[in-house]
Formats: sequence, structure tokens, C-alpha cells
Amino acid sequence: MDKKIILCLAHMSGAEQKYIQQAFDENWVVPLGPNVDGFEEDLKAFLGGKKEVLAVSSGTAAVHLGLIGCGVDSGDEVIAQSFTFCASVNPILYQGAKPVLIDSESATWNMDTDLLEEAILDRIHKTGRAPKAIVPVSLYGMPYHIDKIMQIADHYGIAVVEDSAEALGSRFDGQSLGTFGRFGVLSFNGNKMITTSGGGALICPDAETKEKMFRYATQSREPYPFYQHKQLGYNYRMSNISAGIGRGQMTVLKDHLAHHIMVARLYSELLNDMPGIKVHLSPAERIQSNYWLSVISLNPELHIKGQESIEPFAVDPGDAPNANVEALRRCLEARCVESRPLWKPMHLQPLYSNVPYYGGKVAENLFRTGLCLPSGPLVSKEDVHYICDIIKSSCQLS
Ligand SMILES: Cc1ncc(COP(=O)(O)O)c(C=O)c1O
Repeated sequence: MDKKIILCLAHMSGAEQKYIQQAFDENWVVPLGPNVDGFEEDLKAFLGGKKEVLAVSSGTAAVHLGLIGCGVDSGDEVIAQSFTFCASVNPILYQGAKPVLIDSESATWNMDTDLLEEAILDRIHKTGRAPKAIVPVSLYGMPYHIDKIMQIADHYGIAVVEDSAEALGSRFDGQSLGTFGRFGVLSFNGNKMITTSGGGALICPDAETKEKMFRYATQSREPYPFYQHKQLGYNYRMSNISAGIGRGQMTVLKDHLAHHIMVARLYSELLNDMPGIKVHLSPAERIQSNYWLSVISLNPELHIKGQESIEPFAVDPGDAPNANVEALRRCLEARCVESRPLWKPMHLQPLYSNVPYYGGKVAENLFRTGLCLPSGPLVSKEDVHYICDIIKSSCQLS
């Protein structure tokens, strides 16, 4: 095969150019304008129409703003899912606050709600006050148990910032992820369900809160003709050009969603008979994943061609994917297929080695055994067959 099969490449609808051209024609080449307003309206409608949407420069900026909106401040504790990309947790440090990390449960791979409650009680016991916010993450688009998370959060009076950066189109009981908590986060990075080349959105509970968060995202400039600032602000607004790409992408979002789901089902069908390989699928009907990335996990006993010559990585012993996972990644790479290890849990990262962690080895074991496979709109059915053939021929069953 000549072409390289990438995990999740951006796919343009063709309508993007029209919106960008309009921005140039009308000289709206600034971080505000008709495309930003239009993109926010499109997202609001897609998410069910009840929440307000603020388009921002990245998903990371949205997480940061969400924490600010919950009043997270220096010295506060914030509970976050350990198994995630660093952007879910780093903004806690931006605020001078303290992360408290929680392990995952093995069905959704997301925040374990028993551990969540245990951690809240222990933090109250140890510090005399409840954490300020909870950040669950929908890994690879798979919804977390938001019903239980909201129940616990409401019981202890803690705000939830849903990191649904990977979950545009994912639903729990039919409701869009990102619309349950006080705030929700979306990312439109180049590899997400849709892209704005780089960008994100903060899902806000109402217009008043959106206005407040808008101010933080625009350097906290007060409404005077001159520059007046009462509080610290940020330059986090989305550009009108990026939003033009977003408006074009909204025309293909439903197609993208259907495609990602089709790809996940096909992987599952084709790998179903492979002992030692498991495709990560939704554990219940009410948990509807967008399958942003299809993910498999490899039984540690499964032998992959070439794994005996894999040199250990130069990190703490055992702190890397298993040799058979790395061997499979290399087998795929040699045949022009990109695959990627799972997010390395934050409690295993040197940056977060000293923060409180509640849980065992669920996330850690998933990290060691998992591999993300190509899933984007440019991955065809033939590509999935090709990838599964490579996987099957690389496995050496004893
Ligand atoms: C779980 C998660 N949170 C947050 C982000 C941050 O989004 P961005 O890259 O747009 O800053 C990402 C994506 O990259 C992500 O995967």
C-alpha cells in the first residue's frame, strides 16, 4: 500500500472555503465575527439547544476557563480522571490548584465512581473541605457514567467540568456529553471528530455565564471605550477564520459520526475471532460512543512477531506499553499504518508523581495493553480489512 493510513486525518466538506472567503471578503479576519457566531449557534443546536457555547482557541483553553468558571483558585483541590491526555489536568496547575487523581473502571475506561466518592470523603477528612471541581474524561469518545458522577457531585456540592474534548456526538441516555456538568469542553484539534485546524469550545449553562466566560477569554476587558481590567484575563477567543472551517465541518459532522461508528463495528467484527485481542466497545446501550478512535487491548500472553527484540524504553521500569503492543505498533508502521499507545495515566507521569491518587492498576494496565487504531473519515472499509489482516498475521498464537 502506497498511502499512509493515519489515525484520524482531517476531512474537509468543501463548504469551509465559502465561509473563509466570506470572512476575507468582509474583512472579518479577527477573533470575532459572523463565523464565530454562526459556529456557536450550529454547535448549540447540535448539542440540543439548551446550553450556550463559547468558541475558544483550544480544548485546553476551554478546560482552563471551565475551572475558572467553577471558582477554582490557588490552593483548591480538583479531582480529575488520571487516565487522560495532560490537557485535562494541566489547567488545574495553571490555577495554582492541586490535582487529585482517580483511577478508571474497566467497562468504560473512565472515572471510577466508587473511587470518586471515596476520594471526596478522604479529601474532606484530610483537608477539612471538599474539592472544588470534578473533571471526568470521555476517553476515545466513550461516555463516563455521568448519571452517577452528577449524583455524587450534587450530593457534595461540587461542580463538574466535563472534558468531552474527544466526545463530540457521544451521548448518555440520548443526551449529548458536555451538557450535564456545569461546563463542558470540546476540542477541534486537527485529529478530532471535526476540526477548525485548532480550537475548542466551552459549553456553558446559560447566556449570563457565557458572557462572564467570554470576558475571561478576551483579557477581561471591561466594557469601556478605554482599556480597563479588574481581573486577570486570557487571549482564548477563536478566530473568525478557524470558525469558518468549523461551520463547514458542521455540515459533515453527522457523516463523520456514522463513519467512526461503522469503523469500530467493522474492527470488532473482523477481530472477533482473534484470541488475545479485544476491541473496546460500549458496555451498555445507554452509553453511546462516537468511537472517535477505535481501540484494542492485547492480552499480555499474546505473542507478536519481533517482540523479543524490543528494547525497554528509557523510562521507569515497567512504565511503558508491553513489548507485544510496541511490536504490533511497529508491524503496522512497517506497512504504513499509524497506531498509537493509549494515554499514559497522569499518576504515572513524572510531572504528577507527587499528587494524591485513588485507585489501583486499571488505567495502568489499560495503558500497558492498549493500542489506538486508525478510525477517521478517510479510513475506508478496505483500510480496516488491510489493518486487521496485518494484525492477524502479526499474532503468533501458541
Ligand atoms: C481528553 C482531552 N482533553 C483536552 C484536550 C485538549 O484539546 P486541544 O488539543 O484542543 O487543546 C484533548 C485533545 O487534544 C483531549 O484529548
